[in-house]
Amino acid sequence: MILEALLHDRLAPAFAAVAGMPVDPAVRVSPHADFQSGAALALAGSLHRPPREIAAEVAAAVDLAGIAEVTVSGPGFLNLTVADGWIAGALDAIAGDPRLGVPPVPVPKRIVIDYSSPNLAKEMHVGHLRSTIVGDSLARLLDWQGHDVHRVNHIGDWGTPFGMLLEHLAETPGGTGHSLAGLTAFYRAARVRFDTDEDFRTRARLRVVALQNGDGPTRELWRRLVAQSEKAFLAVYDRLGVTLGPEHFAGESTYQDELAGIVAELAEKGLLIESDGALCAFPAGFTGRDGAPLPLIVRKADGGFGYAATDLAALRHRVSDLGADELLYVVGSPQRIHFRMVFAVARAAGWLPGEVSAEHIGFGSILGADGKMLKTRAGDTVRLSGLLDEADARATDPALGIAAIKYADLSGDRRGDYVFDWDRMLASTGNTGPYLQFAYARIGSIARKADGAPGPIRITEPAERALALALLGFEPALTAAAGPREPHRIATYLYDLASAFSRFYERCRVIDAEPGTRSSRLALCELTARTLHTGMFLLGVEALDQI
Ligand code: ARG
Repeated sequence: MILEALLHDRLAPAFAAVAGMPVDPAVRVSPHADFQSGAALALAGSLHRPPREIAAEVAAAVDLAGIAEVTVSGPGFLNLTVADGWIAGALDAIAGDPRLGVPPVPVPKRIVIDYSSPNLAKEMHVGHLRSTIVGDSLARLLDWQGHDVHRVNHIGDWGTPFGMLLEHLAETPGGTGHSLAGLTAFYRAARVRFDTDEDFRTRARLRVVALQNGDGPTRELWRRLVAQSEKAFLAVYDRLGVTLGPEHFAGESTYQDELAGIVAELAEKGLLIESDGALCAFPAGFTGRDGAPLPLIVRKADGGFGYAATDLAALRHRVSDLGADELLYVVGSPQRIHFRMVFAVARAAGWLPGEVSAEHIGFGSILGADGKMLKTRAGDTVRLSGLLDEADARATDPALGIAAIKYADLSGDRRGDYVFDWDRMLASTGNTGPYLQFAYARIGSIARKADGAPGPIRITEPAERALALALLGFEPALTAAAGPREPHRIATYLYDLASAFSRFYERCRVIDAEPGTRSSRLALCELTARTLHTGMFLLGVEALDQI
């Protein structure tokens, strides 16, 4: 039971009785008491009464027996101090529950989450890191809450660039023998030829046509490229401890056969306009800098289908075949307008019914020390696998290095940019992955050293009480993270919990306390460790028993 919610439910009828209308008690965590309600101040105007008088009447009417003490303070706040006995009882219940007192959501939703989604034949770069890490954390969280989560890896495995790649491949003896790192150089070489050699360009265009027409040898080359890229992606997921597997690949090529139908249906519904030979949708409300309506290009002038057409087909499939209630797209913020337009067109076409939600979960960039997009010294984009190699080399334990990178990515609001700074990420103090991992390992060693079993919780010291209240904050933190899709709220919570534990351990003896106190404190240790473990699992950050 979320404590705020319980206090809210008790205060609401008391406020309603005093005010003669429904009132939101607006219960908040407060530095002045455990919780505070400022609702009496908000009501004073409409009731034409002094707020302290209203607060006093509510305090007299509310039934919080056994839960909390209520006092009126300042201009008319209600201060709520939770009873120690109530806290202890709630923690005992949580300690006996494998889900730490967090019930599964009452109405599970089918949620399709599109994340990672790198492009074929190009190695994953650091830009794909955030989608992979943030997306995986959200998928874990929603899963754990009891939703029916479908992960989708919408890899870029189709389109005009493949003409140039496949043609270059066909003309390079032994071409697919490359490792994927080699494929990045391979991609560049193909690009140079495409940009400089007119004849090659023509052959590359014919290759696209051959690929689209299902030409056998061309398809075979393509399949080799797909297989090699997928293998490399899976190797990265494995190193990162990301829950994406081969079963989640659903690349752009999957929707090829749907695209003509998508265009036909949009045309039939009067949603397409021809513009310079291309077929475009102009959803209402989207204009460019010059004020002109912004097109969503569904079919290009050369007859090819682009990124938008594929996304429309994928969306329709996720709603009508997969039965999604919610669609999530974890993709960098620069694609914000693309998604808003795709959603608008899909709504207009009837593919995205009102009861199905679609959300673009954007995120900021990873910056270098110079405050610009992270680049290598030579000015190239940073390869993800190279970055992970460096994490392994820098950290004393590879699990610490990977966790440090992931945690640094998850601990700030996803919408913001952040500076990639090894020293800060790997620091063992502050809000970092290593700090949490050390805290977790340390608590485990305390529990191992102590003899005696955990027992019923009794609250005596202030630091003990603060830790106990922090433990009760787990469920609210998860709810706060899941709603706006903000994993950093879990990170902040875990950091606060680990800090509360440190203060507790500084002030309260555990191992050499007298038996009743010891068993209570061991129970607090154990519950802290389990909460950290679960929270870290939801972030996808490994919790090590020993470091
Ligand atoms: N492959 C794209 C890129 O690297 C991301 C795809 C995101 N998902 C989607 N359904 N459009 O930019």
